[in-house]
Amino acid sequence: MSSPAEVRTLATPQELFAAAAEEVIHAANDAMAKRGRFAIALSGGSTPKSLNTLLATNARNSLPWDRMFFFFGDERHVPPTDPESNYGMAEETLLSKVPVPKTNVFRVPAENPDAAAAAAEYDQMLRKFFALSPGEFPRFDLILLGMGPDGHTASLFPGTTALQEKSRLVVANWVEKFKTDRITLTLPVLNTARCVVFLVSGTEKAAALHEVLETDASGEQYPSKLVHPADGSLIWLVDRAAASGLKLTQAN
Ligand code: 6PG
Repeated sequence: MSSPAEVRTLATPQELFAAAAEEVIHAANDAMAKRGRFAIALSGGSTPKSLNTLLATNARNSLPWDRMFFFFGDERHVPPTDPESNYGMAEETLLSKVPVPKTNVFRVPAENPDAAAAAAEYDQMLRKFFALSPGEFPRFDLILLGMGPDGHTASLFPGTTALQEKSRLVVANWVEKFKTDRITLTLPVLNTARCVVFLVSGTEKAAALHEVLETDASGEQYPSKLVHPADGSLIWLVDRAAASGLKLTQAN
């Protein structure tokens, strides 16, 4: 049964990242205790950089990195060495700074010029890691997501075909405004997670956050609205600037 979303407003971006680090550590320790491993999907974009740095400094010696498995919620259609690469950002700000075995990091093979083939390969990687039967979706312990000023999340952009996907785990999604394909986890995967945490910082996100949390605008317009884990928790960590457009939501 999906529990109502929790919206937590933090006064500053620093407090936002500290709260996010706590959620990651809590979810990791909980997963370790119950299942002996922790499977997390990292978010791309710029917001997670400070969270990654915090985890690399404060949790370097306190997390069981050898039992933690890292995936990516989405990827740009670029090689891992490209400055636009979400994997590249995570490697630089977190994965290269903590004792996580390279074999525990599953990046999207986005250097493949054929984005659909890269998506299919990543789909297979997920099916193998989670030992899925046909029709089954992977149950991540934690999925970290961001939100764009247009209400997109991962690479699920307004009005794009990926929003309709019901069976594949990963798809290549053409994003007209960027004239490029993105490779993204699909909504069934996001909504099968045990916990989804959104990190949203900055005034440029305020209008979309209001639409996502407080209006009946469609998920087609604001795809972040379509993220509701069916049997898991949904936590919105937002800073005061991003929350400046909220009218109804009681922040706790
Ligand atoms: C990406 C992300 C994307 C991101 C939002 C917010 O690859 O860009 O996965 O969904 O989370 O665009 O990006 P910022 O954190 O940079 O504002």
